[in-house]
Amino acid sequence: MSCLIEVEHLHYRYPEGRAALGNLTFHLSHGERVGLIGPNGAGKTTLLLLLGGLLPDFSGSARVAGHDLQTRAGRQQVHRHLGLVFQHAEDQLLHATVFEDVAFGPLNLGLPETEVRRRVDAALASVGLDDTARDRVPFHLSAGEQRRVAIAGVVAMAPQVLLLDEPTSDLDPRGRRELVRILEGLPITRIISSHNLEFVLDTCDRVLLLDEGRLVADGPVRRVLANEPLMLRHGLEVPSCLSAAERHEATLAGPLPLPVPHVHPHPH
Ligand SMILES: Nc1ncnc2c1ncn2[C@@H]1O[C@H](COP(=O)(O)OP(=O)(O)OP(=O)(O)O)[C@@H](O)[C@H]1O
Ligand SMILES: [Mg+2]
Repeated sequence: MSCLIEVEHLHYRYPEGRAALGNLTFHLSHGERVGLIGPNGAGKTTLLLLLGGLLPDFSGSARVAGHDLQTRAGRQQVHRHLGLVFQHAEDQLLHATVFEDVAFGPLNLGLPETEVRRRVDAALASVGLDDTARDRVPFHLSAGEQRRVAIAGVVAMAPQVLLLDEPTSDLDPRGRRELVRILEGLPITRIISSHNLEFVLDTCDRVLLLDEGRLVADGPVRRVLANEPLMLRHGLEVPSCLSAAERHEATLAGPLPLPVPHVHPHPH
């Protein structure tokens, strides 16, 4: 498996001065399914926006599919490889119909009309939206339906990596189960930020745990989520579906080794 995302000693500070990410280092290979967890304000959304090329002026290095996000050209290129679904799905639905919204990305790639139609049809089907949805006004859809359209919009771009920010936040239990099924049918590398830890267990193999902008654990999903002291220390809880035996074992195993942080050269 080759490296798709490489983040080294990444620091980010918002323009008004708030430090949101500090000294993050991690690598992601093709095909990995990664959950991004942490308390409110940990930096999850910031990290996804940055990987999506939307936040310039960071220090350290971040590369996606070989494109250097420090450069404007790299940030522009990254849109061809990566699909980002925002925390508030309605923020990315801008057109008059569902069809136009999903077709927008493929049209921007300069694809021929027949290919655009083919991709829109396949993307809508993959998120369980039928033909009757195509002509509806995205603004009039329920929050869960809007999220499906937003996911279809990025799936239609055929990205190599999918970034989903809190995708279950407005889904009912059935919608959540359907999203698990939809993701199972999409064999794309992904990072999913979520407070819904059972959803993370269902959809991810590896977890990054952030707190106050720092990476505090990076490891197999069950091992991180079952470590009760670690989870409590960072404002989280062990999902109730994990057994007492798993909790005991993960807690005994202790914290997970992280990449060795050497002195970072970019105090932003
Ligand atoms: N546009 C912004 N300008 C300034 N500071 C911001 C901005 N967006 C987020 N922050 C700050 O950056 C930090 C990280 O926020 P971020 O939204 O990345 O957290 P999060 O982990 O996604 O939280 P949540 O679980 O609530 O979605 C917080 O301290 C937040 O207040
Ligand atoms: Mg967030």
